[in-house]
Amino acid sequence: MSAVLTIQSRSHPYTVETFDSLGEALAATPAAAAGTLCLADRAVHAHYHVDFERCLPPERILLVEASEEAKSFEAMAPVFTWLLRRGFKRDGCLLVVGGGVLQDIGCFAASVLMRGVRWELLPTTLLAQCDSCIGSKSSLNLQLFKNQIGTFYPPHRVLLAHGVLRTLPWDEIRSGLGEVIKLHLLAGEQPFAELMDSLAALPGDDSMLPRWVLSSLRIKQTYIEPDEFDRGIRNLLNYGHTFGHAYESATHYEIPHGIAVTLGMLTATWVSVRLGLVDASHYAAMKDRLRPWHEPYGSRLKSVELSAVLDAIKLDKKATRSALHCILTRGIGRMEKISVDLESQLRPALGELIAREI
Ligand SMILES: NC(=O)c1ccc[n+]([C@@H]2O[C@H](COP(=O)([O-])OP(=O)(O)OC[C@H]3O[C@@H](n4cnc5c(N)ncnc54)[C@H](O)[C@@H]3O)[C@@H](O)[C@H]2O)c1
Repeated sequence: MSAVLTIQSRSHPYTVETFDSLGEALAATPAAAAGTLCLADRAVHAHYHVDFERCLPPERILLVEASEEAKSFEAMAPVFTWLLRRGFKRDGCLLVVGGGVLQDIGCFAASVLMRGVRWELLPTTLLAQCDSCIGSKSSLNLQLFKNQIGTFYPPHRVLLAHGVLRTLPWDEIRSGLGEVIKLHLLAGEQPFAELMDSLAALPGDDSMLPRWVLSSLRIKQTYIEPDEFDRGIRNLLNYGHTFGHAYESATHYEIPHGIAVTLGMLTATWVSVRLGLVDASHYAAMKDRLRPWHEPYGSRLKSVELSAVLDAIKLDKKATRSALHCILTRGIGRMEKISVDLESQLRPALGELIAREI
């Protein structure tokens, strides 16, 4: 084990530590203490039940399906009931093991239960390891409204087990890479070029992943520490997300989150070309570079209704009645928040993109 990062937060500073395996990471938590309860992704538990059994008895683990329904506001009541019936106390610790879904559920629970309790996070997807595990956010769905309810409450520790990624399906690896790519695009030409060259060895050789997980977290740290509550520079981390969320919603979540972000970044680049912010050659280059990381989902967008995408965009937190404040680009490392008119600018640009450009 080694603490590789310390993140400053308004609530409390917290460390990111690295381990080879989930078993080692679990053993480093207060799992054995009687006051500890655990929320675990059911699929992760099925793969690693031996590691769990070594550390804590089954009655102290609540298994949760990693689904968008599970991270809804409505689905939280049984989680709170379970924690309280199991005797969770203010000085207890909540262990959360899973990807972004479990993180959102665990973070929300820890932030409001008894007005804030200790929680430790063992992220098990690439997306959660390289991105969501730091930054303090919880996001829950309410019916159709995705990620509209949430809190800022970082874990007290993040324990990264590299080995746990070996059971992750390939599309979930590509999903995490969407966020890795986004962070390195924000960081500039050289980090992006080095990343893309290195990723060429995938899927055969994944030994580079720990390096890029850490590099991603270091980039993200520079945005979240000065702007934890997302009022300024942190907004840039939304690059690709407004359009990505709309694609997820318009396809009924068939597209893994980070792959939708990759498609969202291409969309933001295309809209930037249409607004004259960047040359069309930049879009052409990005289209080639990003294709391996989103196909065949990109092609499937051709059958999506433009109106469904626009309706989803209108539900975005950053949309007013007639305009959308989204992150566009003037080139690699040059992202900006720009207001786009929904009818006169976005509708024609998206129509063209979905029909023939993506
Ligand atoms: N709060 C935040 O800061 C934040 C940031 C980004 C995304 N999110 C949310 O995270 C969610 C997506 O999370 P995600 O992409 O991490 O995936 P996920 O939690 O949805 O998990 C994806 C799939 O992988 C399985 N899985 C997880 N770990 C595994 C492992 N090690 N081996 C085998 N299978 C494994 C899960 O059971 C699930 O089927 C979305 O709901 C998104 O809104 C939250």
